[in-house]
Amino acid sequence: MFYKRLVRPLLFLKDPEESHEQTLALLSRMGFLEGAFEWYFGVDDNRLQVKLGSLSFPNPVGLAGGFDKNGIAIKTWQGFGFGFIEIGAVTAQGQPGNPKPRLFRLPKDQALINRLGFNNDGAEAMRARLAAVQNNGGWPKIPLGINIGRTKVVETKDAAEDFLFTFETLFLYGDFFTLNVSSPNTPYLRDLQERALLTDLLTVIQEKNRELAAKGGSQEKPVLVKVAPDMEFAQLDEIVEVAQSKRIAGIIATNATAFLRESLVTRTEEPGGLSGRPLRGKVISFVRHLYQATQGRLPIIGVGGIFIAEDAYEKIRAGACLRGTRSCEADQSRAPQTYGTRRLQAYLRSCRQRRPEVTTADSSVGLQDKGDFSNVRLCQNDSASRSGRIISTLPRPIS
Ligand SMILES: Cc1cc2nc3c(=O)[nH]c(=O)nc-3n(C[C@H](O)[C@H](O)[C@H](O)COP(=O)(O)O)c2cc1C
Repeated sequence: MFYKRLVRPLLFLKDPEESHEQTLALLSRMGFLEGAFEWYFGVDDNRLQVKLGSLSFPNPVGLAGGFDKNGIAIKTWQGFGFGFIEIGAVTAQGQPGNPKPRLFRLPKDQALINRLGFNNDGAEAMRARLAAVQNNGGWPKIPLGINIGRTKVVETKDAAEDFLFTFETLFLYGDFFTLNVSSPNTPYLRDLQERALLTDLLTVIQEKNRELAAKGGSQEKPVLVKVAPDMEFAQLDEIVEVAQSKRIAGIIATNATAFLRESLVTRTEEPGGLSGRPLRGKVISFVRHLYQATQGRLPIIGVGGIFIAEDAYEKIRAGACLRGTRSCEADQSRAPQTYGTRRLQAYLRSCRQRRPEVTTADSSVGLQDKGDFSNVRLCQNDSASRSGRIISTLPRPIS
């Protein structure tokens, strides 16, 4: 109510990028209120826990890449009840991004169009910032993902080197890494989704991953690939094949779309990535396809059009184990915490009361693994599974 009546109208008076930057700056100074936020927004419910290899997520709803590009508010996010955060996209070299205006609200469509173009301070600046947070004892308790993009001026032939630099620079700080080969706003970036280029990229990243892990006596970091929604399933299958052969930890589906304008109520010719509500159906179909094509063996993070708990739950039912959200500022009616897990928890509870067969939701949000990312299984979240015994395979996707 407070958000709807007071905060949102004020935010919507301003240019979307300006209000985003100001909100983020404010949040970055509110880390000290983390405990209070957690008390208000947080959810502690074993049924929502997800395990992915060595990583434990208190719940499956996270903040997707692009919201906190420079990682300035990492201490605050967990207070909002997110189960993980992904900062970035960060690129090897800092860059200003595309000319403004470059972010557009489409309130009637609950959507955003952005063509920011990876505006960020660069890998070295992020490393310094994260090191400072770590030294000050403000490190988040939830997994921190780092979303890596390609520097704009770097050519495709040098893209792998560019990604590698950022990966190496930030290796110590990320709990997992996302290779963003799917933003529509960096020219030719999406070419990296093609078989040969993707194979080269994943080969060098995973080699470096092994090397750095061996050097530091630590485990390899889970590396995920984020895909675009603008492709045929045949190309998605190729990506999955390459990802599995390179022992990628999961697929994030999806980034914003360069298309789908015909489905909008708002008439607009603005180029850029469309995200929010119009993306929802596409993402569900991608998640479902990925789940079926991999027989549930490759973890899927569903991103796109999550506004309420039912949206998150829909992705769970389609086969996703985690989901992220980004376009919250596009929403007409809800504060960011609405995405949070409290509603998902309540929704799961009401599903069980209304439709007993939907209790498989409980199994779909409790993820156990056998120590091998390529063979992650979901299990029912009862005492047996908490003790680690796998008692069922993946949840039934919606048919
Ligand atoms: C303003 C804006 C900036 C974004 N920046 C990034 C980014 O840097 N890296 C990335 O992987 N995705 C980025 N995205 C895509 C989102 O992470 C997400 O995949 C997409 O918006 C769909 O989710 P949503 O409907 O919840 O927004 C951005 C999206 C928006 C709206």
